[in-house]
Amino acid sequence: MVGLPARGKTFVARKVQRYVSWLGYQTLWVNVGDYRRARAGAKQPAGYFAPDNAATRGEREGFAMAALDDLFGWFQAGGEVGIYDATNAERARRNIIRQRCAAAGVPILFVETICDDPMIIDANIRRNKLGLPDYVGMTADDAFRDFRARIAQYARAYVPVGDDEGSYVKLVDAGRQVISSRVEGYVSSRLVFFLMQIRPTDRPIWLSRHGESEFNLVGRIGGDAPLTTHGKEYAELLASFVRARTAHAVVWTSTLQRATATAAPLGHDVQAWRALDEIDAGVCEGLTYDEIKAQMPEDFAARARDKFRYRYPRGESYADVIQRLEPVIVELERERSPVLIVGHQAVIRVLYGYLMGKPQDECPHLQIPLHTVVQLTPTEYGYQEERFAL
Ligand code: F6P
Repeated sequence: MVGLPARGKTFVARKVQRYVSWLGYQTLWVNVGDYRRARAGAKQPAGYFAPDNAATRGEREGFAMAALDDLFGWFQAGGEVGIYDATNAERARRNIIRQRCAAAGVPILFVETICDDPMIIDANIRRNKLGLPDYVGMTADDAFRDFRARIAQYARAYVPVGDDEGSYVKLVDAGRQVISSRVEGYVSSRLVFFLMQIRPTDRPIWLSRHGESEFNLVGRIGGDAPLTTHGKEYAELLASFVRARTAHAVVWTSTLQRATATAAPLGHDVQAWRALDEIDAGVCEGLTYDEIKAQMPEDFAARARDKFRYRYPRGESYADVIQRLEPVIVELERERSPVLIVGHQAVIRVLYGYLMGKPQDECPHLQIPLHTVVQLTPTEYGYQEERFAL
């Protein structure tokens, strides 16, 4: 990461971390500020960050290098994508990073967040910085002034990434403009595409399974059964829940009738996605778990051993579901209105796993009960969760 403080680096870095690890790469995020807080203490005056403060400059370099050492140690132990979250505002620092990456054979992509809009910067400081351990015991106004003074110190030495520094992406004014240069390869290109969608927003996301279906009642999996009376009641309650919170929710469902019927009381503006259909249980569609165990004991045992990778004969695995949900994730990142997704047990587990940064193989075991709305509200670091049983 590159950029002055309060430009959204950590917000972007954490999003990238969740996305890349959800895609299946071993990912680590290190934040140099955390090293500084742990080793020198959180409370430092703005002058501590002055580029020409001879007493602190070496110490700050030391923290930056300690974080980088940890990242490279982790690469050596098999890590795949490292996110180095620091201002990296000076060319000299970036040169060191480039040299170390070249020596270790690690390709590098600079992601620079740029913003000169004082309104966005001030809002970012108020929202994300005043609660830092750096400002415990200080009034909000004093902390605000101090953080601005800190930024001014960094600005004295800041030099944006140049065309001669290798691959980069620059995100200008929270996504208004995206500039990329010399981006090569599949992961980096996919990442740039992802970065083009993300927007800071505070709108909630609501995840829900469909209302109870006739198949749920008898324990059969898959299929396209209608809702039960209870399921229909849930659909009405869900509509009231959403209407009480917003007048303009975006509503996405799968194409299966139990999901579309659950969203129906919300009105006409519902988008049905094939990508949100339940995991395809192939030859097991319509069976109960007991029937699968009796008729296909080896498959049943194989799924119990590795539920994430197990693929139903002529059907899907959770790993397959992750791949097909990617367009939904990208749209979700782009959308600024509140979003309600009405899906199914496996797909909601996977979406929840992405948003909450769960390791891939935990997804198949997450608890997502029927008739429960999972509300996720964005923060700088991820999402805050609240559940409502209706
Ligand atoms: O039982 C409801 C259901 O949505 C099935 O259609 C689907 O196969 C299953 O849940 C997914 O859950 P699990 O992966 O735990 O079997």
